[in-house]
Amino acid sequence: MDFFLDSTDFEEIKRLNQTGIIDGLTTNPSLIYKAKTPFDQLINNLCSEIKGPVSVETVAENSEQMINEGIKISKMAKNIVVKLPMTWEGIKACKQLSEMSIKTNVTLCFSSSQAILAAKAGATYISPFIGRLDDANVDGVQLIREIKLIFSHYNYETKILAASIRTKNHVTQSALAGADVVTIPPKVFSSLVDHNLTDKGLKIFNSDWQKSGQKIL
Ligand code: E4P
Repeated sequence: MDFFLDSTDFEEIKRLNQTGIIDGLTTNPSLIYKAKTPFDQLINNLCSEIKGPVSVETVAENSEQMINEGIKISKMAKNIVVKLPMTWEGIKACKQLSEMSIKTNVTLCFSSSQAILAAKAGATYISPFIGRLDDANVDGVQLIREIKLIFSHYNYETKILAASIRTKNHVTQSALAGADVVTIPPKVFSSLVDHNLTDKGLKIFNSDWQKSGQKIL
């Protein structure tokens, strides 16, 4: 399973990228708003720091304008993925951009039927939002399971990108459900390593090592 960061916080992204296990990045207009950095500069910085796919969203409402925006966005860097909304206009734009060999990510997916549409339109990624479904009292991870099962019946190449991740458990459950990618906010990513028994065990090992008087030569 690939790990993407879901963020536009450049300093935090740089710091977490030092782990060497970040495969890509997702952004959205709300995250761009939070960054308070000119769009061109921000996308340039993000795409030079993260070598893998970087999703950047269109904001137009009709497919023609989405395609124009998508083409412009795709020219900003080699590793850009054009993010499109799960609407009929977004699906039309996805189909055409895919035919131009531009990578796409259909976002705001909340049902299996929507995921099938994205796959039919040749999307590179489909982004089911599991946290927002959980917020609405619907089992978000169940949607990943359903999409995985449906895609397994056909030859769809669309990758399942688990989005709207709120907890460590969302990451584990997405992996169990067979998501191809999980996009994780920095705070949740940082917490993935935490376990109190690891801390406790390490403390004991260090203390016993000190007592042993041994040296690594
Ligand atoms: C995914 O690409 C989106 O940017 C993101 O996961 C949305 O998450 P949220 O529901 O926490 O805003």
